[in-house]
Amino acid sequence: MYRALIFVAVVAFATATPTLRSEDNEELRFDDNFLFGVASAAYQIEGAWNEDGKGESIWDHMLHEHPEYTEDRQNGDVAADSYHRYRDDVKIVKEMNMDFYRFSISWPRILPNGDLSLINAKGVEYYNNLIDELLANGIEPMVTMFHWDLPYALQELGGWANRHIATYFRDYADLLFKTYGNKVKWWITLNEPQSFCRGYSGDHFLAPGVEHPGVGEYLCGHTALLAHAHAYHLYEETYRAKQKGEVGITLNSFWYTPKTENDKNAAERAIQFWLGWFANPVFSKEGNYPQVMRERVAANSAKEKLRRSRLPVFTQEEINYIKGTADFFGLNHYTTNYAEEGEEGKTPSADRDAGAIITQNASWPSSGSDWLKVTPTGFRDLLNWIRNAYGDVRIIITENGFSDRNTTVDGILLDDGRVTYFEEYLREMHKAIYTDGVKVFGYTAWTLIDNFEWLHSYQERFGLYYVNFSDPSLTRSAKKSSIYLGEIALTHVVPSQGVQLIASSILLAAILLRMCIFP
Ligand SMILES: *[C@@H]1O[C@H](CO)[C@@H](O)[C@H](O)[C@H]1NC(C)=O
Ligand SMILES: *[C@@H]1O[C@H](CO)[C@@H](O)[C@H](O)[C@H]1NC(C)=O
Ligand SMILES: *[C@@H]1O[C@H](CO)[C@@H](O)[C@H](O)[C@H]1NC(C)=O
Repeated sequence: MYRALIFVAVVAFATATPTLRSEDNEELRFDDNFLFGVASAAYQIEGAWNEDGKGESIWDHMLHEHPEYTEDRQNGDVAADSYHRYRDDVKIVKEMNMDFYRFSISWPRILPNGDLSLINAKGVEYYNNLIDELLANGIEPMVTMFHWDLPYALQELGGWANRHIATYFRDYADLLFKTYGNKVKWWITLNEPQSFCRGYSGDHFLAPGVEHPGVGEYLCGHTALLAHAHAYHLYEETYRAKQKGEVGITLNSFWYTPKTENDKNAAERAIQFWLGWFANPVFSKEGNYPQVMRERVAANSAKEKLRRSRLPVFTQEEINYIKGTADFFGLNHYTTNYAEEGEEGKTPSADRDAGAIITQNASWPSSGSDWLKVTPTGFRDLLNWIRNAYGDVRIIITENGFSDRNTTVDGILLDDGRVTYFEEYLREMHKAIYTDGVKVFGYTAWTLIDNFEWLHSYQERFGLYYVNFSDPSLTRSAKKSSIYLGEIALTHVVPSQGVQLIASSILLAAILLRMCIFP
């Protein structure tokens, strides 16, 4: 009886409080061949950090030595235990009607020493099982080869600051293409080199936690670009004719908007330093690092009385070798920053070289992460910037998502903040595609399940599914956003807000009912 009362009350409440905006209220449709997917990363969900022959990664190593680096002193040793529960993961990807699942392969799980001296058969088998389970459920695997978890054995040789690591990456890529390439058609070489290279600038205790600001991040970036190009050329020469897949790279960028009229150059410099750093060498006509970046790092290095620029120099041969090495542009995007003329950061550092002060507006809607404000129009601006800079490159959004920190179960499951975020960002992406003509062919939500969110550990939740990390069974439970996005993946339609309101009242009732039945 009281269940029916709750239902009626909820429907009445929800339909009685429509706050429809007059604009942006029509239903939006995406083409039938537009792809929807959901993403994860090995260290953030797999756990089983030392099981079945897996080697140590730089994150394992750093957080075992320095538990105090994370907000709650926890780490990814167990995480969401996807190593043992991957079937549960595939089940919910299917529940959400997704076309593909973007996951990453842990390099040290396959090659515990980093090199080909030891191939871990159990690790190879794990990803074969995951891929087979996906294909059996009609879901395309999209594989990220590297998502930050470098084998610690290679870190002992300097990690990405050592140019030779590019050759080790080529060997690893060769093994992946050879082993999985008959089943995997989507390959992403590197995820967010801009982020993992900050692990060499000492700024935020990001693994490997090397403190060489202004030098380390540039050495890392140089090796990463060579490594990416090696993998692309290898695929081109040895595998593409037979396997017929695509190889791309995932870059991340904020949108940078000038704080005032006078800050337009600062905003352009910021995006050149943070996105152009990796995008210009691969996607521009001329190749190489952006000119403004080469000039500013060289000038600052001269002021510091150094013999040469802290930014390594590519030969013309290398510029040509790296240019054009991507079948698609993977973009991770979350939020917008202001850029303003001025300098900040250590001397030396890439931050200081960029010559822009980065802030946000406290009045922008917030999330569970201090850096993530809900600023959907920046998404459209960024997509247009990429098209203007690099021409009609094919873009796939490889991450976009929202965090919260609510500790009440109903607050976590009824994640309206996340639903609103997806709706508003999808609307702006739709405008970029259908009004502005930017060639975006797919969209990936971050992330499948609540996971280990790096230094914020289990405190910031980005998942479409809830995971109770204190519960040994680590059950995955649908949040409202998973049902919302699942409908969009199925229908290719972002519903108008009127339709959505009715749907969400029914859903709210269903979730409350379930809580009455299984309190
Ligand atoms: C922040 O945004 C508000 C509202 O759009 C605006 O009035 C204010 O000037 C902005 N603040 C800054 C520092 O730009
Ligand atoms: C947490 O969830 C509850 C219930 O949905 C909601 O009233 C509250 O505003 C949420 N708190 C935060 C900080 O999001
Ligand atoms: C999580 O699981 C623990 C252990 O089973 C339980 O005590 C707790 O209530 C659960 N928390 C939530 C938010 O469901």
